[in-house]
Amino acid sequence: MKYKNLLLLLLALPMMAVAQTVKSPNGNVVLTFSLTDNGRPTYEMTYKGKAVVKPSHLGLELAKDKHASMGMEESDLMEGFSIVDTRETSFDETWQPVWGETRDIRNRYNELAVTLDNKYEYSKVTAKGENERGRALFERHRTVIIRFRVYDDGIGLRYEFPQQKELNYFLIKEEHTEFAMAGDHKAWWLPGDYDTQEQMTQETKLSEIRGKMQEAVNWGNSSVAVFSPTGVQTSLQMKSDDGLYINIHEAACADYATMHLELVDAQTKALSTQLGGGSNAYTPNPKPSPYPLPAPFTFVSHLTPDATGLKGAMQTPCETPWRTVMVSDDARDMLSSNLILNLNEPCKLEDTSWIHPTKYCGVWWEMIVGKSNWNYTNDFPSIKLDQIDWTKVKPNGRHAANNEKVKRYIDFAAENGLDEVLVEGWNVGWEDWANMWKRDVFDFVTPYPDFDIKMLNDYAHSKGVKILMHHETSSSSQNYERHIKEAYELMNKYGYDAVKTGYVGDIIPRGDHHYSQSMNNHYLYVIKEAAKHHVMVNSHEATRPTGLCRTYPNLVGGESARGTEYEAFGGNNPDHTCILPFTRLQGGPMDYTPGIFVTKLSEWSDNTSWARITIAGTLALYLTMYSPLQMAADLPEHYAKFMDAFQFIKDVACDWDDSKYLEAEPGDYITVARKAKGTDNWFIGGKCDENGHTAVVKLDFLDKGRKYDCTIYADAKNAHYEKNPQAYVITKRTVKKGDVLKLTEAPGGGFAVSLIAR
Ligand code: NOJ
Ligand code: CA
Repeated sequence: MKYKNLLLLLLALPMMAVAQTVKSPNGNVVLTFSLTDNGRPTYEMTYKGKAVVKPSHLGLELAKDKHASMGMEESDLMEGFSIVDTRETSFDETWQPVWGETRDIRNRYNELAVTLDNKYEYSKVTAKGENERGRALFERHRTVIIRFRVYDDGIGLRYEFPQQKELNYFLIKEEHTEFAMAGDHKAWWLPGDYDTQEQMTQETKLSEIRGKMQEAVNWGNSSVAVFSPTGVQTSLQMKSDDGLYINIHEAACADYATMHLELVDAQTKALSTQLGGGSNAYTPNPKPSPYPLPAPFTFVSHLTPDATGLKGAMQTPCETPWRTVMVSDDARDMLSSNLILNLNEPCKLEDTSWIHPTKYCGVWWEMIVGKSNWNYTNDFPSIKLDQIDWTKVKPNGRHAANNEKVKRYIDFAAENGLDEVLVEGWNVGWEDWANMWKRDVFDFVTPYPDFDIKMLNDYAHSKGVKILMHHETSSSSQNYERHIKEAYELMNKYGYDAVKTGYVGDIIPRGDHHYSQSMNNHYLYVIKEAAKHHVMVNSHEATRPTGLCRTYPNLVGGESARGTEYEAFGGNNPDHTCILPFTRLQGGPMDYTPGIFVTKLSEWSDNTSWARITIAGTLALYLTMYSPLQMAADLPEHYAKFMDAFQFIKDVACDWDDSKYLEAEPGDYITVARKAKGTDNWFIGGKCDENGHTAVVKLDFLDKGRKYDCTIYADAKNAHYEKNPQAYVITKRTVKKGDVLKLTEAPGGGFAVSLIAR
C-alpha cells in the first residue's frame, strides 16, 4: 500500500467505527459519540473522570401506518446508521438578556456535529409487464445530524433533519433518547403526567420511584394523565452517592412535544410506548418496543401524545429540542448555570423597549382562598355567552372584580410602588368556566357590569399604575385563538401591557394534552401574537419552560408547577421552594406569587389550610425564586399590619446586573446575593426547609471602600413556620466589603437583606 493511501485510510478511520470525543472548554465535561455494530448512535458523558451518562442510545421510532396507507414506506430512525461526516467547532460569545439574573451571559462550548446516513432496504410490488406484477428490492437513504454542545457545566444534544428527497414529512411514535445513570441516585421528581405539573416533589432513590408513584400523583388536580409507574418529569434534579449533581431537562422546545423520562428499573418489562397512552390511569398494557430494553437506572425519553396518540408531525427541515444534562460537584452551579438559555436562539423581537420587570398585587388571593368569587351571579345553571343580558342578572354579592375593590388595590399599588394590579374575574363566563369541556367559555372582551374597564384603567394610569389582564382559557385553546386578536386590541385600547393566561382543566379540542406538540405550538402562538401587540405574557398551567424566554423575552413568567395557590389547597411543604430553583426554574422564571403574611387562612376566611412559611421566609423568595415578574400576593389590609416587613417587598428589585449563589443544597437551603440592575445596591435572600439553617454570608462581593446601609429581615429566635410564622426581627447597621453576616433561619423560614450603597 502506498504511503499516501495509508494516510487516507487513517484519516478516514475516525469517520467509521471509532469513537469521537469532545471536551468542554475547561476539560471537565467529556462527551463521546460512537455507533454500535448495528449502527445505533450512542453517546456517553463524564465529569472530572466520573461517569455521568453511561453509554446510551439515540434514535426515533416513527409511525408507519399512516404513510404506508399513502403508499409510502416508513421505517424507524433507530439503527442502520453510518457516519458521513463529523465536524468539531468552538463557540464563545457574551450576550445581554433583556432581563435576567446577570447583565452578561457567556455562551462558550465545543460542538460536535455528526452527519449520519440511514440506509433502509425494503421490497415493493412493481409492475413487471403488462399483466404481471413482481417485487423488487429498494434502498432508501435518510440524513440525520446529531449535534452535541459540550459546556463546562453540561451538554446539550439534538437531532436535526435537513430537507431531503427521502425525508420530508414524518410522524413520531416515540423518541428513544436514553440517559443511562451510573448508580441509584437520589432524585427530586414529579410523576410524569401529560396534563399537570402541580404535584409536590418526591425525594427518593431512583429504585424507589415505582413504589412511591401512586402516592405522588396529584389525583386532586382537575386534569391528570399519568402514563407509567416510573415516568417522571423534567427538569429532573439528581445527586449521586459520590456527590455529583446531575440535572436532565430540555431547551428550546418549539413545534415539538414536551419530554418526560421513563425509568427502566429492575421490574421494567417494557416501556410505555404505545400510541394514545394513559388518560387518568397508568398505561394498562404497554405495547412492547421492538428495541432491547436498556439497563436498569436508564431514563428513556417519553413524549407527550396529541389527541391522535402520536407524538410529533414533522416537516423537514426541522430539529428536536435540545436534550440537556447539567452536571457539577457543587450544587450552586446548578442554580447559576445558563446552559438552557444558551441553547436557545437569540432574541427574535426587534424592539424590546416595552418589556419591563414588574412588581404587582392583585384581586386574586381572596378568591383562591374562597372569600370572594370570580363569577358575578349564581342565578343560572349554565351560561351561554350570547344569551344573557348581564345588566339584568342578579349579582351574588361576592364578585371580587368590582369597581370599588379594584380601586382600593390600585391605590395600594400606587402608594407602595407596585407597577401593576392583576384583576381576575373581570370578564363574563366564570359561572360555569371549569371542567365542562365547554368550547365557547369566554370571549375575553366583555366585562361584568360592575367592572368599568375604561374608568378603572384611567384611574390606574392617573396614579402611575397599570391593570394586569387575565385570560383564563379553561384549556379551550381554539376558542382563545379565535378571540385573541380582539382580546389584545382591547388591551391596547385601554393600556394593558401584560396578560396572565391560564389553562385549567382538560384540553379542548378533546383528547389533546397540555404538553403535546399542538399545545406547545398554541402557547408559542400566543407569545408571538402578544409580542405583536407589545404584551408581556405570564402563562399558568402551560407547558414547563425550556428557555424560550431568551428568544421571546415578552414571556416574562409562568406557573407550570405547584405555586402559592396550593397553600390554600392543603399547603406546600416547607422545602418546596428549596427544590423549585433546581427543577422548575431551570427553564425560566416562575410566577410563584410569594408574600403571604397572614399564613393561617382561617384567621380571615373559612379556609382551614395554612401556608407553611414564615414572614421572613416569604421575603427571601423574592431573591431565591428569580423572576422579573413578582407578586405581593396577600391582601392590602394584611400588609397594613406589617408595614415594616412589607418595606422589603417595596424595596427589592426584580432585574439584576449580577447574582451570586452563596450556599445551596436541593431541598435544604439556598442563599443568593443579587445586584440590582443599574445600581450599586445588593439584596440577599436565604430560604431553608423545615429543619432551619444558619447562613454565613461573607460580603466580599461589595465595592471596596464603600459603605452600605444594611437592613436585615430575619426570623425571630422562636419563629417557626407552623407555631410562630409572624415572628421576625428587623435590624439596621452599616456594613462594608469583607464583613460577615451570620443569619439564623427558623424551621420553614429564611431571611432577606437589603444593602443600599451610600
Ligand atoms: C389557576 C391559576 O394558577 C390561578 O392563579 C388562577 O387564579 C386560576 N387558575 C383561575 O384562572
Ligand atoms: Ca395553577
